[in-house]
Amino acid sequence: MKILVTGGAGFIGSNFVRYVYQERPDWQITVLDKLTYAGNKANLDGLDKSRVKLVIGDICDESVVDPAVSDADAVVHFAAESHVDNSVHSISSRTVSPASSFASKTASA
Ligand SMILES: NC(=O)c1ccc[n+]([C@@H]2O[C@H](COP(=O)([O-])OP(=O)(O)OC[C@H]3O[C@@H](n4cnc5c(N)ncnc54)[C@H](O)[C@@H]3O)[C@@H](O)[C@H]2O)c1
Repeated sequence: MKILVTGGAGFIGSNFVRYVYQERPDWQITVLDKLTYAGNKANLDGLDKSRVKLVIGDICDESVVDPAVSDADAVVHFAAESHVDNSVHSISSRTVSPASSFASKTASA
């Protein structure tokens, strides 16, 4: 099984990655994460890179999302602007949320 975990360098995503890594040793995990203020590569430290691949990219970027989704058996979506303060202070860049954009891309795939 190959899974794609968006936002997998964030709090919940990285804990999910570690859970799957431990519980499903035969699964391949690809993390797609933009590494914003909330994402941290160190959250994936210690995981075998032959099983866990980090793709640094934006879920709003089709050129990144399309091949990643095509290569996966399942997608688990955690990428988000989870800090509400940022949405309030900079609404223009978040008018199209990563989640809604990603959902429309995967729905049409
Ligand atoms: N933390 C909680 O207690 C909690 C509880 C319930 C639900 N949730 C939900 O779970 C999801 C993840 O929460 P979290 O606490 O792990 O958030 P987080 O902020 O720690 O992680 C979000 C991750 O998404 C990445 N990201 C943001 N925009 C991106 C983009 N455009 N493309 C690719 N990656 C992008 C960030 O770099 C980060 O690694 C959110 O939808 C949140 O609302 C969280």
